[in-house]
Amino acid sequence: MSEIVLKNVCKQYEKGQQYAVQDVSLRIGEGEFVIFVGPSGCGKSTTLRMIAGLEEISRGELWMDGALCNYVEPKERGLAMVFQNYALYPHMNVYDNLAFSLQIRKMDKKEIDRRVHEAAGMLGIEHLLRQRPGSLSGGQKQRVAIGSALVRNVKVFLLDEPLSNLDAKLRAQMRVELAEIHRKLGATMIYVTHDQTEAMTLGTKIVVMDQGRIRQADRPAEIYNHPADRFVAGFIGSPSMNFFKGTIRVPGRAAFLELEDGTMLEVPENRAGLLEEKYAGQRVVLGIRPEDLHEAGWPGGSGKTGHADRSSWKLEGEIVAREMLGSECMLYLESDAGDFAARLPVAVRGAVGEKKQLYLDMTRAHYFDAQTEKNIFYREGRDLV
Ligand SMILES: Nc1ncnc2c1ncn2[C@@H]1O[C@H](COP(=O)(O)OP(=O)(O)OP(=O)(O)O)[C@@H](O)[C@H]1O
Ligand SMILES: [Mg+2]
Repeated sequence: MSEIVLKNVCKQYEKGQQYAVQDVSLRIGEGEFVIFVGPSGCGKSTTLRMIAGLEEISRGELWMDGALCNYVEPKERGLAMVFQNYALYPHMNVYDNLAFSLQIRKMDKKEIDRRVHEAAGMLGIEHLLRQRPGSLSGGQKQRVAIGSALVRNVKVFLLDEPLSNLDAKLRAQMRVELAEIHRKLGATMIYVTHDQTEAMTLGTKIVVMDQGRIRQADRPAEIYNHPADRFVAGFIGSPSMNFFKGTIRVPGRAAFLELEDGTMLEVPENRAGLLEEKYAGQRVVLGIRPEDLHEAGWPGGSGKTGHADRSSWKLEGEIVAREMLGSECMLYLESDAGDFAARLPVAVRGAVGEKKQLYLDMTRAHYFDAQTEKNIFYREGRDLV
């Protein structure tokens, strides 16, 4: 068992200073791959370092396997940490770098040798064991750093942006390997990254932090499809979700969202009830992802909501940039309702400077309270946290 529980954990580096981490509560189950994301300075590394015992917890409790661990020494916690700037010993060869943490624990030489070769085999660096770090590429050094954590046979790995120094191709390769290692070891991984793809693909749970607090902690698909608030909605997804300010209007039987350029978007039935009841005449923020904008006649979208007339989901803008991504095309548009981006098939018509009408799939839109920025339809405690 290796469950980790944080209860209202806070960190204040100096008295009178702002809290770097505030009231962070989180349960990390055995074998989970938990990803911390958030803007620079939001407290990701601080949280990881408190779990590792490298930083004192100012207030709150850290529990591991049912025992309160706030004051347990780092080396007694049974975890291994890998940092962004892979701290290797330059004067030692790869073998000794991998073996070092075991040698200082006075482990049997044969067992050390077995573990070094096992880790090196897993990471494909057996042929480098006699080389010194100085002669290795960035990706190879990174593998050694991960290897020196692997040899320790711990149940919990803490990784702070371990792949951030690698180029895109190596990152993708290491990402697949990390997923494989996680699967093989069944260990708990707690991982900080700025990379959206790493977060979405590796994580069993994503923790989105902002200014020292957790905004949302949930499965990747839940975070993507049911963001708790506007911050999470805008932070996860690349390019970012489009946001439009608007006002809910109920002129007759149907509800509409009036955008700032006067465009009236009909609200589909599955969303209309609550908006009519609580937000009629009030301002909300509409959120829609670039992939949920389409040209006329896109398949799907209608029917399920009992909504037939998609002509009321139209928005016009001027194309200000066009990006060919290979398998699809990004259009960036400007309108009086706000700027927006659309991810469309490569064959989409429209050049920079031209006007373009696109359809918003309103069945996939999000609605945020203009004041609190909370997702109006978010249901708290959906499943886990
Ligand atoms: N040793 C320290 N002493 C004082 N303040 C610190 C210390 N380390 C971090 N901080 C502050 O705590 C806050 C959180 O920092 P932290 O390093 O945890 O952020 P982060 O989310 O890891 O950011 P990044 O993405 O840039 O690595 C920041 O405001 C930072 O300036
Ligand atoms: Mg950091």
